[in-house]
Amino acid sequence: MGPVPCGFRAAPVGWDHGYSSRDTYTAHFHSEMAPNWLDFAALVKGHAPPRRREGASFRYLELGCGMGFGLCLLAALYPEGRFLGVDFHPDHIAHGRRLAETLGLENLRFQEADFVDLQADPSPLGFERGETGPYHYVAAHGIATWVVEPVQQALLAVASAALLPGGLFYNSYKTLPGWLPLTAFQQLVRLELQRGEPALPGEAFRRATATLASLLGEEGQATPLRNLLPTLSTELDDLRLDNVPYLLGEYDNAGWQPLYVAEMHQRCAAHKLRPVATANLPELFEELLPEPLRSQVNGEPNGLIRQTLIDLACARRFRRDLFARGSVRLSPDAWRRRLSGLRLRRRETPSRQDWRFRTSFGELSVPPAICEAMEAALAPGPRSLAELAEAIGQPPVEALRLAALLLHEERLGLDRGEAGAQAQAGCERANARLLQRMAEGWGYGSLAAPAVGSGVDCSLVEALCCQAPGQGPLGATEERWLLERLRELGARSASTANNDVKPVYALDEKTLYVVTAFQRDRLPFLQALGVVLARFQPRSPGHADA
Ligand SMILES: C[S@@+](CC[C@H](N)C(=O)[O-])C[C@H]1O[C@@H](n2cnc3c(N)ncnc32)[C@H](O)[C@@H]1O
Repeated sequence: MGPVPCGFRAAPVGWDHGYSSRDTYTAHFHSEMAPNWLDFAALVKGHAPPRRREGASFRYLELGCGMGFGLCLLAALYPEGRFLGVDFHPDHIAHGRRLAETLGLENLRFQEADFVDLQADPSPLGFERGETGPYHYVAAHGIATWVVEPVQQALLAVASAALLPGGLFYNSYKTLPGWLPLTAFQQLVRLELQRGEPALPGEAFRRATATLASLLGEEGQATPLRNLLPTLSTELDDLRLDNVPYLLGEYDNAGWQPLYVAEMHQRCAAHKLRPVATANLPELFEELLPEPLRSQVNGEPNGLIRQTLIDLACARRFRRDLFARGSVRLSPDAWRRRLSGLRLRRRETPSRQDWRFRTSFGELSVPPAICEAMEAALAPGPRSLAELAEAIGQPPVEALRLAALLLHEERLGLDRGEAGAQAQAGCERANARLLQRMAEGWGYGSLAAPAVGSGVDCSLVEALCCQAPGQGPLGATEERWLLERLRELGARSASTANNDVKPVYALDEKTLYVVTAFQRDRLPFLQALGVVLARFQPRSPGHADA
């Protein structure tokens, strides 16, 4: 190693290859990683999904599973699947194992391993070097642009080797040009962290932000940096400087490097991984692009240039691309049959009545009459796509596009039918235990909804609503209990899925609204999706009032 500049500590060289291992990563569920979602995306693009039917058995590998929360939820939702989570951080693996045990999951295993070692010897994944891997799905969420290039190469090599022919690789990553402004922030943060001082990493983030703010100058001031990066100031304001573990996981990585789509696709191609679809569902439909971009994209025969054009025009920040190693294309007949048979169900009660859709292609609006007809058709229960097309009086492709937009906004779900019913008991047990852990202060933020094979948001206040002592509706006593618990937890007011940052000192209007809205709107919705909450179960006939 060359000389280290005075006052700076050496870049870490060790088991983490420069990845920020000083803290654990946050724990979230991402609906785009669910097998039925991945199948839907591949199917829309004409590729045979890895599972022939809902409920078929499969194997799923997550590379860089972090705390393992998302994988635990998937394992509860899909008891017919076998799941393996790999990460090199021992604290992540310890958390994942403990959580899987607590939730009573037997179809899930966690393995502490480094991608670089797995590339040389994949046997911990259940196959030998040179053999075809056994996985229908391999997922790497937020890994490829967080790690140094040799690790990225190893990740792609392992993903490719692990896949069955026709299997899907979900690879989500930060993209350019969307991340251009924050590259300035990341550069300064890394240098601040390497300074050796201060001991508290939060200080490095504050210093980097303050430095950039002064270089940007006041709003309206034409400084060179503000001229070049006019959105940087707002992006800095949006950073949550109090969430240091998250910021470290995001920015304190030697390999932090957003990529242009073509760079990533070329790197994947070197490992025989071909792009087949995206898990950002609206992006499956390039015809939704606004003009004149749509014509420009349509006129471009080169796939990589097409994708690059879209990313540049939309200033894209993040992609969730699906790759296959040897994909199987469906015949037009088989494609139509499978699409028509897809079953959808509502995820919202009551409806939002807002028919504008926010997508990376911009805001799209659909005529309210069509959306309302779709909603009405789904009100009695799940319907097939063919039935929905008929109900809204539109060609199947219109019904498909609208369904994709509604799925993207989580207003609809992909109905699991009998397979969802099979998962019900396991999800009931897992949810009860998750709620207990959330009430103890674990910020998981989702529960398992077996009817749609996906997670459903659950804020801290909502988790506490379910955990309040007693049975049945919540009243003044429970509200007082809730307030005490929130104070004890030093908690944050939660009006949305992810806990907000405002400390709770009193059950303010917003929180009370959550309690009211929870009982009126959320509870029926959660119950319809198969999220069983013991507190709100109908009492058995012999139950005596306490
Ligand atoms: C940005 S985090 C994303 C975690 C998780 N996928 C999520 O979205 O919550 C990157 C993850 O990759 C893991 N990781 C980084 N380099 C690795 C390597 N060489 N081998 C195995 N895991 C690695 C880290 O420990 C971390 O959990």
